[in-house]
Amino acid sequence: MAAKVRIPLQITWHQDIVPYPMPICVVTSRNAAGATNIAACASVFPWNVSDDHPQMVLVTRSSSRTSTNIRETKELCLNFMPARAAKAVVPTGRPADDAGRKPGLEGLALEPAARVAPERLADAIWVAECRLADVVTPGPEQNNLIVNVLEIWAAAALVALPKRRRLRASGVGIYFGMEDGRFYFSGARRPRGYRALPRAKVPALTWEHAAEHAMARVPALFRSTAKRAVEQALHAEGKTRVTLADVERLRPKRRPPAG
Ligand SMILES: Cc1cc2nc3c(=O)[nH]c(=O)nc-3n(C[C@H](O)[C@H](O)[C@H](O)COP(=O)(O)O)c2cc1C
Repeated sequence: MAAKVRIPLQITWHQDIVPYPMPICVVTSRNAAGATNIAACASVFPWNVSDDHPQMVLVTRSSSRTSTNIRETKELCLNFMPARAAKAVVPTGRPADDAGRKPGLEGLALEPAARVAPERLADAIWVAECRLADVVTPGPEQNNLIVNVLEIWAAAALVALPKRRRLRASGVGIYFGMEDGRFYFSGARRPRGYRALPRAKVPALTWEHAAEHAMARVPALFRSTAKRAVEQALHAEGKTRVTLADVERLRPKRRPPAG
């Protein structure tokens, strides 16, 4: 077992030593005059994961413009950014200058949102359009904003992909806090998927000839895994024979070649 040392609790302790990984999230909000503000806010977590009352919570500094804007105008977009956008996100984490401008945001294009006034970031891979529901104040310098999720949008190219390929293609970005004057990020380069439940013990099922014949179209490399998946699904349905109809129902359809 690795020896441990006690780490003193200091401000932003969750980002200390081995930090709490967070999504690279950028909040777009508007002030009362209608000007859009763009600010990194990675401490964003699901608060109510039910589908009838979906909510997120944002942990914000109460003096930030983001917090002030949301308390004033209520609406916001949570823009989850890919790791490749991390460098472009960094200037959003700096305070605005005396003229109220935040230099260096040229790399972040805006596009209209569907349900709220603040725009979405065009390069976001996942966006939640939200409205303020409640403010919790754990301390004088912090506001936790509980927001209702009105709509969710995802990059269209990702939606049809299976999970592992989707994670790779999205390049989902992870933030690891600030240290030595630098913000640290990474991406999910080699996502792995591990079986959630132990593999069920499934007795071999009897395959009808037509069903067996249909499986011959599956490349040999994947055929036994594919047959096993069909058998597991049918076993769960209480069946002992595999018919052609079962195979057609359970095997994912191959897309016709484009063009
Ligand atoms: C990647 C990243 C994540 C950040 N996450 C948070 C956060 O979760 N909460 C927060 O209050 N500030 C966070 N910050 C710092 C704010 O972005 C920073 O205080 C900024 O000046 C706020 O801008 P605003 O005043 O325009 O809202 C983060 C900064 C970076 C670069």
